[in-house]
Amino acid sequence: MLKISNVTRRFGDKVAVDGVTLEIAKGQMVGIIGRSGAGKSTLLRMINRLTDVSEGSIACQGLTVSDLRGPALRNWQRDCAMIFQQFNLVPRLDVITNVMLGRLNQRNTLMSMLNLFPRQDILRAIEILERLGIEEHGPKRAEALSGGQQQRVGIARALMQDPRIILADEPIASLDPMNAQVVMDTLRRIHDEDGRLVICNLHTLDTARRYCDRVIGMRAGQIVFDGRAEELTTAVAREIYGADADFSEEATSTSIETLSRPRDAAVRRPELVD
Ligand SMILES: Nc1ncnc2c1ncn2[C@@H]1O[C@H](COP(=O)(O)OP(=O)(O)OP(=O)(O)O)[C@@H](O)[C@H]1O
Ligand SMILES: [Mg+2]
Repeated sequence: MLKISNVTRRFGDKVAVDGVTLEIAKGQMVGIIGRSGAGKSTLLRMINRLTDVSEGSIACQGLTVSDLRGPALRNWQRDCAMIFQQFNLVPRLDVITNVMLGRLNQRNTLMSMLNLFPRQDILRAIEILERLGIEEHGPKRAEALSGGQQQRVGIARALMQDPRIILADEPIASLDPMNAQVVMDTLRRIHDEDGRLVICNLHTLDTARRYCDRVIGMRAGQIVFDGRAEELTTAVAREIYGADADFSEEATSTSIETLSRPRDAAVRRPELVD
């Protein structure tokens, strides 16, 4: 579905992403791991075109994403929603309006600014909030919610775009283990039930192993591992993160495992099935 060919991104002298070639098919949830500065965010941002490539190309089903301009670029960005570590909600706006802002680039901007949303958008936003189990928070200001709830609002806003691809940049890095688990369960459900491609940058090994089918390890802008989650052994992780003294499983753990239930149960919680 996505074809990344020899992509490099430079910032001045700094090479953030260095000659990355990847093909990503639908049907696998993908995790990207690596230490800070490895180039994970830059790679996701190039896919979404928040950042341009310096060299190489990115294509999706015949569309050369890295060349898109104007309305075609906006269409792509709608089709390829981004979720951020810091949620990027409008804190003083209520939750339901935040979710409907996911439609902003498909609607008349003035109407959106005046909070005049079509009835069908309101109904859809409520439906998505219900699906994610946060409908009761719809009328509250976003800033009144917990981090885990805010991140689910971020996911709801992304779903409002009805994207084919969801790119999540460290979606759980600001959350405690319990909320991290709820958010990762939600992303996995969206992958499994909707068939959307989900690519997640993750800081921690245990989360990547637990939720992702395919894990890509980056180091200094390059891909140094690309395999199934089961192949991500401690030795492999050491290669990805570097053999420095500060490497340990604990240092790269979210502790979701300690809360645990089996992965399949996490994916198919009966109360979450629509
Ligand atoms: N806008 C920018 N201007 C200059 N340098 C940048 C910019 N964005 C990223 N870089 C540099 O590119 C490298 C890769 O950054 P990137 O944010 O992609 O890493 P990361 O793997 O996401 O790290 P983290 O885990 O800390 O989020 C870093 O050295 C960073 O300083
Ligand atoms: Mg990053």
